[in-house]
Amino acid sequence: MTATAFDHDPVMCDEIVAAFANVPAGVIVDATLGGGGHSEALLQSRPDVDVIGLDRDPAAINAASQRLAPFGDRFGCDRVSFDLLGDVLDRRGISTVSAVLFDLGVSSHQLDTAARGFSYRAAGPIDMRMDPDSTRSAADLIDHAAVDELAAILRRNADERFARRIAQAIVAARPIADTAELASIIAAAIPAPARRTGGHPATRTFQALRIEVNRELEQLPVALDAAITRLAPSGRLAVLSYHSGEDRIVASVMRDGTDPCTCPTGYPCVCGATPTLARVRDVPKRPGAAECHTNPRASSARLRVVERTAATNGQMDEGVSDGTCPA
Ligand SMILES: C[S@@+](CC[C@H](N)C(=O)[O-])C[C@H]1O[C@@H](n2cnc3c(N)ncnc32)[C@H](O)[C@@H]1O
Repeated sequence: MTATAFDHDPVMCDEIVAAFANVPAGVIVDATLGGGGHSEALLQSRPDVDVIGLDRDPAAINAASQRLAPFGDRFGCDRVSFDLLGDVLDRRGISTVSAVLFDLGVSSHQLDTAARGFSYRAAGPIDMRMDPDSTRSAADLIDHAAVDELAAILRRNADERFARRIAQAIVAARPIADTAELASIIAAAIPAPARRTGGHPATRTFQALRIEVNRELEQLPVALDAAITRLAPSGRLAVLSYHSGEDRIVASVMRDGTDPCTCPTGYPCVCGATPTLARVRDVPKRPGAAECHTNPRASSARLRVVERTAATNGQMDEGVSDGTCPA
C-alpha cells in the first residue's frame, strides 16, 4: 500500500477539544502535528487561541501547513524534535502557553507509506526514521547490532517474549533486503503456537526498532518536562500514548507534578513540596467502541490530562489547587 494524500484520523479528537475547552486564551502547542487534524479541530473550537505545531517529519509539516493555511497567522509550525519545545517558544518570544498536546508514535501516513519502512505489511527499505535527515536508520541498527544489544532493544521497547530468538535470527540472516524479508524472519523465529495468537508476529519487533531509531523514550520525558514548565496557571497538558512504555513515562512525569511529596506514607508532610499539577481524571481515558471500530489504530490509545496549578517549583502561591479539578 502506498499512501499519497496525508491520511490520518486524529484519535480521540472530541476528547482533546473538550479537555482544552476552558484553558486560558493564548497559544496551544501541538507537539506532534502530523497531518494537523487535532490542530484544525482546536483552531475551529477556540477562536481565541493560536496553535504552534511541531513535527520532525517534513511530510507532516508540509501536509499540515497546507491544511491549516486558511487559519492564516493563527497557525505556525516548526520542523523540530519535540524535546526542543522550550527553544522553539524562546525563539518565538513566548513565555507561557495555554495547553500542550502530545499524540505520540507514528501517523497512519508514515505507517502506510512503504518507502518510509515503518510497516511489516509492505516491502520497503528498512528505514523507520521520522526525520529522514537523522543519521541512523533501522537498517543501520540491525546490520551492526550484536545479538545481546538487539535482544535488549526488543525487551526494553516492546516487552518481546522471544527477544533473544528473534535477535539471533536477524543476525544470522544479515544482510536483510527489505521490511517484508525482515517481517518473515521475525515470524519464523517465533514458536508456531505463539505466532497464531495476537496480531502480526512482527508487530512488537517493528515497534521496538522504530522506538530505538527515533529515540522516542529518551526524548519523551525531556519534552514533557519542558511542556509542564511552560504551562500558564490553569493551562493543560494532554498526552495520547499507544503502548505501555510510553504510558509509564507519561504517568511518572505527571505524578512528579501531582504528588511531589517525598515524605514516608502515613507521616505528616515535612518536605513542603507543593503540587504544580492537578489530575483531571484519576485513570486514563480510552477511546469509545465506535471510534475503535472506524479507526482500529485508536484502540490502544490512552489519554492522560493534567492541569497546571498556580504553584511554581515548590513555592506556595495563593489559590493553589488541592490536586483535583473538574474533567
Ligand atoms: C500520531 S502522529 C500525530 C497525528 C496528529 N495528531 C494529527 O491529528 O494528524 C505523531 C506525529 O508526531 C511526530 N513525532 C513523533 N515523535 C516526535 C518527536 N520526538 N518530535 C517531533 N515530532 C515527533 C511524528 O512524526 C508524527 O507525525
